[in-house]
Amino acid sequence: MKMLLNIALLLLVTQTCQGLTTDELNQLYDMNGPNSPLNISILSYYSYQIRITGMPSHVTSDCYNVSATCCRPNATPRPSPKMIVIPRIPTYSSDAISYCTPMGLIGVTIDGTAIYNHLESGCVDVNFMPDGSFDECNGHPSPTGEYHFHRAPKPSCLGVPNDEQPHMIGVALDGFAIYDSDTYNGVRQTLDECGGFKPDGDATKYRYVSLYTGTTGTDHVINCLKGIPVQPKCCTCLECGRQQLPDCVARRGGSGGPGGYPGRPGGYPSRPGRYPGGPRPSTSPGQQNCEMPGSNFQQLDCNTCRQQTCVPTGGYRSMSDGLKYAECKRRCRRSYNYQSILCRFFGRC
Ligand SMILES: *[C@@H]1O[C@H](CO)[C@@H](O)[C@H](O)[C@H]1NC(C)=O
Ligand SMILES: *[C@@H]1O[C@H](CO)[C@@H](O)[C@H](O)[C@H]1NC(C)=O
Repeated sequence: MKMLLNIALLLLVTQTCQGLTTDELNQLYDMNGPNSPLNISILSYYSYQIRITGMPSHVTSDCYNVSATCCRPNATPRPSPKMIVIPRIPTYSSDAISYCTPMGLIGVTIDGTAIYNHLESGCVDVNFMPDGSFDECNGHPSPTGEYHFHRAPKPSCLGVPNDEQPHMIGVALDGFAIYDSDTYNGVRQTLDECGGFKPDGDATKYRYVSLYTGTTGTDHVINCLKGIPVQPKCCTCLECGRQQLPDCVARRGGSGGPGGYPGRPGGYPSRPGRYPGGPRPSTSPGQQNCEMPGSNFQQLDCNTCRQQTCVPTGGYRSMSDGLKYAECKRRCRRSYNYQSILCRFFGRC
C-alpha cells in the first residue's frame, strides 16, 4: 500500500513539478570533482545537498569601504565552506505572496560563493552602502572573511560566457535557479517583485533574474523568495509587502517569530506593538575601527496615507522601528484631519 502510494506520488510529482531542469542539474553535476568549488548530490527523494568552498576564484579587492571614510584593509576572503539543502521539488507560493529573505546565506553561486539577501546588518539596503563597498565582481567579504554577493554578480567573474544567452549563475535556498538575464526564448520578460518570472507562465519552472549593470547598479540577486526553503529561517528585517516564511524558525534574537507578519501590499496592519521588542541584530565583530553605517541609511518610505493609516510603500523596517511608524501614523492622521476641515468648512473635498 505504502509503495503504491509512493509510486502514485512519484508519478504525480514527476508530471506536475520540475524544480531544477535536467540541463541545470547537468551543469551543476558537471562541476562535481576534485577541487571543485561546488558539489551537488541527492540527499533524499525530496532534497539536494550543495556544498561550497565559500572562496571566490575571481579577483577580489584589497580594501572594502565600510563607511564613507573608512576602508577595512584586512577583509581578505577566506575559505568558508558551507552546505545547503534545497528542495528537489520547489514549492511556488503564489503570485500574490512574496516571502521576506532571512539574513545570511540564501543561495549559492555556481563558483561556490554565498548569496546573501539585499540587506546589511541593521536592515540597511546594500544600495545605501558607501562607494567602494563592493569589488569589481560586485561582492564583498564579511568581517570574518566570508565572501558573498548581495547584488548581481558580474557574470564573467563566475566564468559565464559573454554570449548574450541567459545563463544559470546560482541556486536559491528555495530550490529555484538564478539566471543572469531576463530573456527567455529571446524575449525579455517582465519580472515580479522578487526579481523573477515564470517561464512559459509555469510556476514550477520559476527562476530568479540577477541583472548585472555595473558595480553601481542596483539590482539585488534576490529581492524576496517565491518558494519555501527546506529549513525556513525567520527574517530579522520586516518589509512592506513581504510575509515571513511559513514555519520559519527564529535563530538568535531579533526575529519576529513564525508567521508574525501578514504583509500584503497596501494592507500593512496597523499594529505597531508587534514591531518593537526584538533586540537589534548584533553587529559583527572586528568593526572597532570601521563602523557600519547607521540605520539612518535605511530607506523607510511611509508615503501613502489611506484614511488615517500610514501605508509604507517601500523600504525596510527593522524590528525596533515601531517609533518611526507611529510618527508616520501621526502625520497621516494630522493630514487626514486637515483634509476633513478643508472639506467640511471650505467645501474643498
Ligand atoms: C567536492 O568534492 C571533491 C571530491 O570529489 C573535493 O575534492 C572538493 O573539495 C569538494 N568541494 C566542496 C566544495 O566540497
Ligand atoms: C571609499 O569611499 C570614499 C568616500 O565615498 C571614496 O572617496 C573612496 O574612493 C572609496 N574607496 C574605494 C576603494 O572605492
